Amino acid sequence: MRQSSLASIGALAGLVVPALGQTQLLSSRQSVRSANTSSIWPWLVYKTEASFNPPQLSIDWKGEVLESGVILLEPRNIDGYNSTKQEGLVMMTSFGDLVWNGPTSNGAANFEYNNFRMQTLNGTQYLTYWHGYRQDGINTTTGYGNVSFVDSSYETKFTVCPDLGLTTLDTAIHTCDIDYNEQFVTPWGTLLVTAYNLTQMDLTSVNGSATGWVWDSQIHEIDITTSNSIWKWSALDHIPLNASQLPLTDGAHNASVAWDYVHIDSVSTYNENLLVNARHTWEVYAVDKSDGEIMWTFNGETGGDWGIVPEESSFRWQYHTRVHSSSPSSIIFSMFVNHNYAGANGTSGTAPTVGREFRLNLPPTSLSPLTLNTFNESTSQWSDSFGSFDYVPANQNSTTRFISYGQLPLLREFGVGPGANVTDLKWEARYGPDNEVASYRAYKGDWTGVPAAAPKVVLEGGGWRM
Ligand SMILES: *[C@@H]1O[C@H](CO)[C@@H](O)[C@H](O)[C@H]1NC(C)=O
Ligand SMILES: *[C@@H]1O[C@H](CO)[C@@H](O)[C@H](O)[C@H]1NC(C)=O
Ligand SMILES: *[C@@H]1O[C@H](CO)[C@@H](O)[C@H](O)[C@H]1NC(C)=O
Ligand SMILES: *[C@@H]1O[C@H](CO)[C@@H](O)[C@H](O)[C@H]1NC(C)=O
Ligand SMILES: *[C@@H]1O[C@H](CO)[C@@H](O)[C@H](O)[C@H]1NC(C)=O
Ligand SMILES: *[C@@H]1O[C@H](CO)[C@@H](O)[C@H](O)[C@H]1NC(C)=O
Ligand SMILES: *[C@@H]1O[C@H](CO)[C@@H](O)[C@H](O)[C@H]1NC(C)=O
Ligand SMILES: *[C@@H]1O[C@H](CO)[C@@H](O)[C@H](O)[C@H]1NC(C)=O
Ligand SMILES: *[C@@H]1O[C@H](CO)[C@@H](O)[C@H](O)[C@H]1NC(C)=O
Ligand SMILES: *[C@@H]1O[C@H](CO)[C@@H](O)[C@H](O)[C@H]1NC(C)=O
Ligand SMILES: *[C@@H]1O[C@H](CO)[C@@H](O)[C@H](O)[C@H]1NC(C)=O
Ligand SMILES: *[C@@H]1O[C@H](CO)[C@@H](O)[C@H](O)[C@H]1NC(C)=O
Repeated sequence: MRQSSLASIGALAGLVVPALGQTQLLSSRQSVRSANTSSIWPWLVYKTEASFNPPQLSIDWKGEVLESGVILLEPRNIDGYNSTKQEGLVMMTSFGDLVWNGPTSNGAANFEYNNFRMQTLNGTQYLTYWHGYRQDGINTTTGYGNVSFVDSSYETKFTVCPDLGLTTLDTAIHTCDIDYNEQFVTPWGTLLVTAYNLTQMDLTSVNGSATGWVWDSQIHEIDITTSNSIWKWSALDHIPLNASQLPLTDGAHNASVAWDYVHIDSVSTYNENLLVNARHTWEVYAVDKSDGEIMWTFNGETGGDWGIVPEESSFRWQYHTRVHSSSPSSIIFSMFVNHNYAGANGTSGTAPTVGREFRLNLPPTSLSPLTLNTFNESTSQWSDSFGSFDYVPANQNSTTRFISYGQLPLLREFGVGPGANVTDLKWEARYGPDNEVASYRAYKGDWTGVPAAAPKVVLEGGGWRM
């Protein structure tokens, strides 16, 4: 990481900067502020920027070498009782120093920042994030917003705002229709996003209302320069109603109890095709991009086209499925397996939350899917929603994994191998109390920032101080 921002200088406390002649940067780290009540998680404060209040990371590190890179995080409050001081985007080091304080949404009702990550568009690395409005239904949350691309000088280069023609719960006209779950930049320079369309249909086949309502979970491919949708995939065209594991509420008889029967939360490229994760069917689909057909289905309970999933490898209510390598005869992919939904040990609270990596043989055969690694060390975690699991760096031979536990404000870095099922918890950090503060996902990776703005310093008692 090469960085010359204000906060990064803060991270290099005590460094003598020749350009400043005799001057030394003194005690330039942040100081920690705790609220007078125990309900606000401790935060950091800076003399130069009173408005920057990132959380203080509570870190447990055993001293093993960590992967290089910065952490991208988006703390937000779930119920507003126990809370984070600042909601919004932050880039921090593994040791809890602030690198970049992004836009914040403090106090704005249902307005959020989500999915802060690094992505490469046509060979250039950007920070990308979603910002928009969250709308809560029954057993679902949909988002309507924009995706912004910030370059290495921290200036916004593109903001993508498609009008997809969606029917919404509040019947409001939303300017921009991207859902918060997924915004994936393809190797060919487009953006894959999720969107939810309220649709009326006969649900009697699943014991629902004859004039029932469902959320049609859609994928759109967006042209980044024009914001036009150039390809659309609709769950209702491909996934039967009876594939859902989510019970209907009151037969889904009106729009406010509409049934989110599929809930696509992640979409990424799988060679020239797509890998799609559906939390509410407990299924992963390989979708042929040329005609939209499902090439194969892997089901967390039945195995789907494989006809079996080993008992200890089952998955339910999972998020964030990503391909790590593939060949004509196999695919390796990972997911964040919540296992739970509705209360920590609610209706489906059958097993602790884990990160998991699979290898599937292709084409689908009765050969059992293989679990390569399961990440579940020390105390079991029970995460009801959100979460992510990634390779750092993002290539197939990486030996570092980074997990965000979603509704549990906990981040973990693991080393893996050599060999299968060898995992080593190297580091963890907490940024709030469980089920009170959350980050939809969190990422770690190398980033080079060259801020356009000059750094700010404060002069105190003859020395330079941050
Ligand atoms: C805590 O309370 C004291 C006295 O009322 C006040 O001076 C201080 O600013 C408060 N601190 C915070 C973080 O609110
Ligand atoms: C949540 O806030 C309440 C009220 O301030 C406090 O008593 C409690 O300890 C907090 N819980 C956590 C986990 O921080
Ligand atoms: C998204 O961008 C559009 C157009 O730039 C703007 O009008 C709108 O306010 C933005 N919406 C959000 C939620 O940021
Ligand atoms: C990315 O590259 C593609 C293919 O050359 C081009 O069509 C597209 O406009 C580029 N996107 C941006 C945002 O520059
Ligand atoms: C959303 O559903 C309505 C019908 O309820 C339909 O007219 C509209 O075309 C759909 N929009 C998309 C993007 O599929
Ligand atoms: C519908 O209800 C009937 C009677 O309670 C039950 O036997 C059947 O399994 C239900 N079907 C579905 C799809 O839930
Ligand atoms: C859904 O219904 C079809 C028949 O309409 C049946 O063939 C299929 O097995 C059912 N799937 C599930 C998951 O129950
Ligand atoms: C929809 O039905 C639910 C009960 O299932 C009811 O509480 C709610 O008020 C209804 N909403 C509208 C808009 O009629
Ligand atoms: C779905 O919503 C209903 C009504 O609020 C609730 O009783 C049920 O527990 C929810 N189901 C899940 C899986 O969260
Ligand atoms: C959930 O159940 C497990 C196993 O019974 C238990 O260890 C754990 O403490 C429970 N978690 C909560 C939040 O109740
Ligand atoms: C990893 O462990 C699981 C049991 O948790 C086992 O089913 C699987 O075969 C192991 N994977 C390998 C590659 O040995
Ligand atoms: C990963 O390792 C394999 C086998 O050594 C090699 O063929 C491949 O090029 C490597 N991939 C990357 C991205 O380094």
